[in-house]
Amino acid sequence: MRSVQVGICGLGTVGSGVFNVISRNSSNINDRANCDINILQVGARRDNPDCDTASVDVVRDIFEVAKNPDIDIVVELIGGTTVAYDLVMTALKNNKHVVTANKALIAEHGMEIFSFAASKGLVVAYEAAVAGGIPIIKGLREGLSANKINWIAGIINGTTNFILTEMDTKGRDFNDVLVEAQEKGYAEADPTFDVEGIDAAHKLVILASIAFEMPLTLDGLYTDGITQLEPQDVAYAKELGYAIKHLGIARQTEQGVELRVHPTLVPHKSMIAGVNDVANAVMVNADAVGTTLFCGPGAGAEPTASSVIADIVDVARTIDASAEVKVNALGCPISQLEQRNIMAIEEIETSFYMRFSALDKPGVLSDITKIMGDSGISIEAIVQKEQPVGEDYVNVIIVTNVTQEKLLNTAVERIEKLETVRDTIKFIRVEHLDQ
Ligand code: HSE
Repeated sequence: MRSVQVGICGLGTVGSGVFNVISRNSSNINDRANCDINILQVGARRDNPDCDTASVDVVRDIFEVAKNPDIDIVVELIGGTTVAYDLVMTALKNNKHVVTANKALIAEHGMEIFSFAASKGLVVAYEAAVAGGIPIIKGLREGLSANKINWIAGIINGTTNFILTEMDTKGRDFNDVLVEAQEKGYAEADPTFDVEGIDAAHKLVILASIAFEMPLTLDGLYTDGITQLEPQDVAYAKELGYAIKHLGIARQTEQGVELRVHPTLVPHKSMIAGVNDVANAVMVNADAVGTTLFCGPGAGAEPTASSVIADIVDVARTIDASAEVKVNALGCPISQLEQRNIMAIEEIETSFYMRFSALDKPGVLSDITKIMGDSGISIEAIVQKEQPVGEDYVNVIIVTNVTQEKLLNTAVERIEKLETVRDTIKFIRVEHLDQ
């Protein structure tokens, strides 16, 4: 049997998962790869007590792995976009195929990396960069290759989904849950990447690029995290029949492409509403297939390792094949990708949940609904909560029908100026995901 030599750079959460799963399942993996996949070398700054690397050459300098003449595939699992970039480029310059789980690297430097790899007839595979253990890259790029993609909506950060689920079901404190997510190895080295939506933004850019045949770019993408989300909104949303999920949404419209990451109300009956804990889920709506849902663990050592190893198997199986028969990194050749107009968030059309505190006296609600009507916004539901004892103000919740965000902004500005309305208006976008 042919033998393919692999070098793993990074032995943290994902690296140790890859090492252990390859060691445990080598017989099945080799059968599927139709070759013998051998971990020849590991580059890691320190040993990981979860891995028995006694039989492998372990070096402290990861660049030694990238330059090792006996290695065919370099697996980059160190994260970040500086050293990781140098490592990947060094590996490619040394004619190695690359497998990476690094979404930030692909989102920010993917065009350069893929172009350089293609010029050398090398593969850069990155299944684990999006949605952990879910084979969404393969699913979208190859499984749905017959389709024109209309939209993608995904829970693509396990840490935020874990936090939202614990806050919703157990009323736990945000910071307390974040610490647990870090301990479980879900969170990024800098967890603000998770909770501020940056990690999800990196992943959304990759999905959108494949779906809409456009170059990878973070320019114009709207990002909002979950740190400003208040427990009362989670509770009110629930009463109204919605769950709040942190979604990445990419949609092809006649005006351009929507690219946005933000907390979103989704109806409890929608496929994605019941996806909880560290699970990720990506809904893809396409012209031939309709709507599909890809769901599974979005982070963690072995789920992510599952995707990394699938890439190693793919690269190893076709290592001697000519470039034409290999799958393009973004589905189509780089020369075919086209720049798209990324829509400003004010231009998007969706429904909105609004919450504000208004004086409880006759005429106040009619002033508010008049402003909504004058702004061309139709109201789907309006709820006034019971007045707390000793308070003159009540919470008012409005769910709008679909409208343009700039119309909502105008209405919000006018309502906030009313003397009968206290503080600022909180609003959250609503998606029904049914067409
Ligand atoms: N920090 C990421 C998450 C890891 O929570 O989803 C997987 O990309």
